Amino acid sequence: MSRREVPVQLGEKVTLTITGLAHNGAGVGKYEGFTIFVPGTIPDETVTVEVDQVKKQYATAKLQSLDLEHPQRVVAPCPVFDACGGCQTQHLSYPLQLEMKRRQVRDQFERIGGFADLQVETTIGMDEGAQWRYRNKSQIPFAFQQGKAVSGFFAPNSHDIVEFPECIIQHQMADEVIGRIRELVRKWKIPAYDEKRHQGVLRHVMIRVGFETNQVMVVLVTRTSELPHQAEWIEELRKFPEIRSIYQNINSERTNVVLGKQNRLLWGEPTITDQVGKVSFSISPHSFFQINPIQTKVLYDVVKEYADLSGKETVLDLYCGTGSIGLYLADQAKQVIGIEVVADAIEDAKKNATNNGITHASYLVGKAEKVMPRLVRDGISADVVIVDPPRKGCHEELLEAVAEVQPKKLVYVSCNPATLARDAKWLAEHGFELTKVQPVDMFPQTSHVETVALFVRVD
Ligand SMILES: C[S@@+](CC[C@H](N)C(=O)[O-])C[C@H]1O[C@@H](n2cnc3c(N)ncnc32)[C@H](O)[C@@H]1O
Repeated sequence: MSRREVPVQLGEKVTLTITGLAHNGAGVGKYEGFTIFVPGTIPDETVTVEVDQVKKQYATAKLQSLDLEHPQRVVAPCPVFDACGGCQTQHLSYPLQLEMKRRQVRDQFERIGGFADLQVETTIGMDEGAQWRYRNKSQIPFAFQQGKAVSGFFAPNSHDIVEFPECIIQHQMADEVIGRIRELVRKWKIPAYDEKRHQGVLRHVMIRVGFETNQVMVVLVTRTSELPHQAEWIEELRKFPEIRSIYQNINSERTNVVLGKQNRLLWGEPTITDQVGKVSFSISPHSFFQINPIQTKVLYDVVKEYADLSGKETVLDLYCGTGSIGLYLADQAKQVIGIEVVADAIEDAKKNATNNGITHASYLVGKAEKVMPRLVRDGISADVVIVDPPRKGCHEELLEAVAEVQPKKLVYVSCNPATLARDAKWLAEHGFELTKVQPVDMFPQTSHVETVALFVRVD
């Protein structure tokens, strides 16, 4: 559609029916064939909206009135849901959230992968009540805004902080510790970070909680190497018996990245521990660890079921992070080989293997798409390949190397159904049949979708 044909103008009010959910959780519908995104709406609703942004290909609009409401619309329990960018789908009943995630996966497979009529299993959700307070990691920005220190979460697409009394998707301990830290910041007049001037001290507070162990780590992220009231911070935080580890992380860069490179252990243990099933993991400030530990076990059990190991297989765990999937499957495999680009994560993976008494797992550092072709040239063979890439999906060189290894099965764990569908198309054209697709809800109340797909090599 050309610019002249854009049928809406800024500020115009139009009525339309919502037909889908975009990946950011906004409802999406067409007005005279033109795409309009409307945050806070649900498919099948008819809504009147006011256009607030017009682009060549689409517009965005604010909801004015709900003319036909979805029967499973609910009142979002969080008082700052509309302003905060953390959650996007609290206004959908939980069963509807799960169904929307299933539909999103199915639609991407159809649109991008060309898989018509694909059976996508019902999304595995969390038990009633467990879809709240599931996060084990919280990173709360502290900032100096409009003349005062504030802390909370960022509003959507901005760095304006929305303050909140509690965040009901994070662990209760995180709220308690953050509440106390806010009081101490005020009491000791610790200067919060001023992003514009790159001044102030406290930038973020990170809290990590071991759900099985109840161990808590607190990381105070500062711009300066000096931490005012250091001894008092330790004394006050130690009053929480769950806190096992207190760090200062120094981040003096002008950056959106939360953690700087330098960690100073102020008090306690260098790591906390958590369990996924029988496997324990050490967690340090920089370690990658899935943020929903209850569903991590559910997700890994799906991978286990799909891999269906007998104890004789060589398993490649590609994009392995700290080795968690391979270690979870290790008791059913002859050998596990993990590949990961972040060297520190591989150090953690090796430690995790040792701590769990696993001696048949080995690890290689490097880009999977570079390391795998080298292994192929060296004549590696593997029965099962697991890939768990970042949002951009697998590199084609990696898929080519995997196809050359000719594993019996490939289990694909994905946090982005669009790139999963793209890679599934490639795999289907190169000798792998897509046999099962299972979404797992790792991120209730948000639009993020996790999927496990099983590909079986066709002889
Ligand atoms: C979604 S995480 C998966 C981590 C792990 N499987 C887990 O469940 O905890 C993706 C991982 O891929 C790694 N990564 C990103 N690009 C990579 C590449 N080109 N080659 C190897 N690893 C890569 C990231 O560092 C990250 O650890």
